[in-house]
Amino acid sequence: MAKHPSIVPAVSGSDALTQDVLAGLKKSPKELSPVWFYDELGSFLFDSICELPEYYITRTELQIMREHAAEMAASLGPDAALIEFGSGTSMKTRLLLDHLEMPRAYVPVDIAREHLLDAAGTLARDYPHLRIIPVCADFTQPFDLPANVAVARRRVVYFPGSTLGNFDNVHARSLLKRMREIVGGSGAVLIGIDLRKDPRVLERAYDDAAGVTAEFNLNALRHVNRELGADFDLDAFDHLATWVENQSRIEMHLVSRRDQVVHLGGENIAIARGEHLRTEYCHKYTLEGFANLAGTAGLAVQRVWMDPQERFSIQLLEPRRIQ
Ligand code: TRP
Repeated sequence: MAKHPSIVPAVSGSDALTQDVLAGLKKSPKELSPVWFYDELGSFLFDSICELPEYYITRTELQIMREHAAEMAASLGPDAALIEFGSGTSMKTRLLLDHLEMPRAYVPVDIAREHLLDAAGTLARDYPHLRIIPVCADFTQPFDLPANVAVARRRVVYFPGSTLGNFDNVHARSLLKRMREIVGGSGAVLIGIDLRKDPRVLERAYDDAAGVTAEFNLNALRHVNRELGADFDLDAFDHLATWVENQSRIEMHLVSRRDQVVHLGGENIAIARGEHLRTEYCHKYTLEGFANLAGTAGLAVQRVWMDPQERFSIQLLEPRRIQ
């Protein structure tokens, strides 16, 4: 039987989590893991971000899926076992499932248990013949695949949303390598990759007029307060989304509005007025840059689908054949 790892961080040892958060807060600049975005409210806010007018990513990716899902499904072929990393509501997956020829199974992998089970339940009603095997796991850590999926001939990892961009290059490469291992020699990876564009468009996408992304960013503090008994004052931080050219990424920060002391795990953390806490990276790639990155993980780009304005790409990767 498949082992379903427990959700992190909700039920992991909170001492270890406290040490982890403290370590981030002692760095310079200070950091807080984006894992803390995703409690129930965070997952809801994230879904709201995806519908914001400024946030072109979801809309554009869906547009590409609608336009090309049949071709994508044909490239994946019949009998594919589809494994989705960070499945959320599985909304984009539906477009693929509608076209896949007799998929063997769908394995949504997500860290937010309630959200995952809800989504799997809804999907099961709409796809009664599809075998759905949800796995509650942090996909950045090794996890076991259900046994019957682990032996399927055509294993396909689906990783939409440009989530790869939320990892620094070292971790992005190791995640791609892990996908390469999961799919083996005859599988494939179908991945959504956001492309470089006007920094003003990017900064607006991550700092919307309605303030939803700001609320999402601040919610990480609320989550730490509740889960680890910290006392972050949410009113004492501003949301910041800024383009960092030499890293080709948007960075999300929380900026302290005043000198303050936060208490966590028996320690006092001093945060100066104007000091930044870094919470998220959103890397943006050129086609060439991404092909190079994938190449270093043993994956070759086979096909690229884009919207007419070339804002976003969905790429089919296959294990590199050694000549
Ligand atoms: N991967 C998507 C992106 O980079 C979604 C996402 C991840 C996101 N973390 C985020 C969106 C933080 C807004 C804020 O855009």
